Amino acid sequence: MELKKVLDSWQHGHGLPRAVYQDPEIYESDIRRIFLKSWQYVGHASQIPQRGDYFLFEIAGESVILVRDGEGAVNALLNVCRHRGSRICDAPEGREARLTCKYHGWTYGLDGSLRAAGFSPEGMDKTRLGLKRLQVKVFQGLIFINFDPDAVPFDAIEEDLGPLLAPWCLDRAKIAHRQNYPIASNWKLSIENYCECYHCLAAHPEYSVGHGLALPRKECEVMLGQVLARADSVGLSRAGTLHSWLEAGVLGTERSFDRYPLLRGHLTGSRDGKPVAPLMGTITGYDGGATDVHMGPTTFGLAYCDHVVLYRFTPRGLRNTDCEITWLVNESAIEGKDYDRAALTWLWDVTTLADKQIIERNQAGVDSRFYEPGPLMPMEDFTHRFLEWYVATMRGPADSAKRRAG
Ligand code: FES
Ligand SMILES: [Fe+2]
Repeated sequence: MELKKVLDSWQHGHGLPRAVYQDPEIYESDIRRIFLKSWQYVGHASQIPQRGDYFLFEIAGESVILVRDGEGAVNALLNVCRHRGSRICDAPEGREARLTCKYHGWTYGLDGSLRAAGFSPEGMDKTRLGLKRLQVKVFQGLIFINFDPDAVPFDAIEEDLGPLLAPWCLDRAKIAHRQNYPIASNWKLSIENYCECYHCLAAHPEYSVGHGLALPRKECEVMLGQVLARADSVGLSRAGTLHSWLEAGVLGTERSFDRYPLLRGHLTGSRDGKPVAPLMGTITGYDGGATDVHMGPTTFGLAYCDHVVLYRFTPRGLRNTDCEITWLVNESAIEGKDYDRAALTWLWDVTTLADKQIIERNQAGVDSRFYEPGPLMPMEDFTHRFLEWYVATMRGPADSAKRRAG
């Protein structure tokens, strides 16, 4: 199906046309134009603390080795041998002094440089045969990669979000739990659902009882004012909302920071609203708020004063998406003493399982020949921004600029 025609048929303020969730060619374009060109969160620096520690990140048939080298830097290397293309690392994580290809034994350093190639001819230039390196950015302990060598630097995201997130000290946080939730839907339906809370009251009673985002924005404004007035006293920024899905159609600048109030005396996101872990970083108390964060098009976070929940969405096929959730706590928190893993993860486990059902039901309905995109409601404004971003990104900067001018 012709992509341009499909995008042209999108009606502002409505859902996307059916084809973008179903057409294999459009899915391939999504991968090429978005996932091979945008900044994606792949893991936390604490997963590879020592020299030689690595983990793999896989997407769309590509495999990337994230490895800590002898200088302490994190490298993102394509898991494809420069001899005849074999995969090098198989295990999803591990520790290696060197990266050795099992096929003919070529050996690479932790920075990807080719160190040894048995029986190679005299004079073979090894410097040109290192593993391909991807762009990598470690932002407050969060590792992002970008396949595109010409990608817009991570700077805009870092400059805006860096100071706002600093009190959580994410670079020193500890991973308390990680879990993958496979969702049988196109990746866009998973993100559209993540971006709106219009469905929360009906679908997430466990969340809605304590979170202001489940209510229309106006109803929360007074309460948010009280939260922001307390921010200084607990070591948080007074900033309320910063949104930028799209800057002049430039991929790589997607970011947002959005404070909202917790309800009914809740201090955090837990079953009864009581703390589930020690305060994070330099935060000194509970201000009665929570923070939604968005870094790059497919990475989201929810920061409470005592823990942070990160969401990574990765397409696994036209109708399959992984939502991997990471729960971060204070670096010194000890499981069983300072936090109970089941209590910490309860809210977002139950909520994500409910979302999985909702999204899969959404995909089944959108698959109908008779599906027609309906109007988005005011509480779906962030989802609308995502759709605008998607359409503009898929058109490409030149086409988007032409349309704006015209
Ligand atoms: S393919 Fe890796 S050494 Fe031959
Ligand atoms: Fe939800």
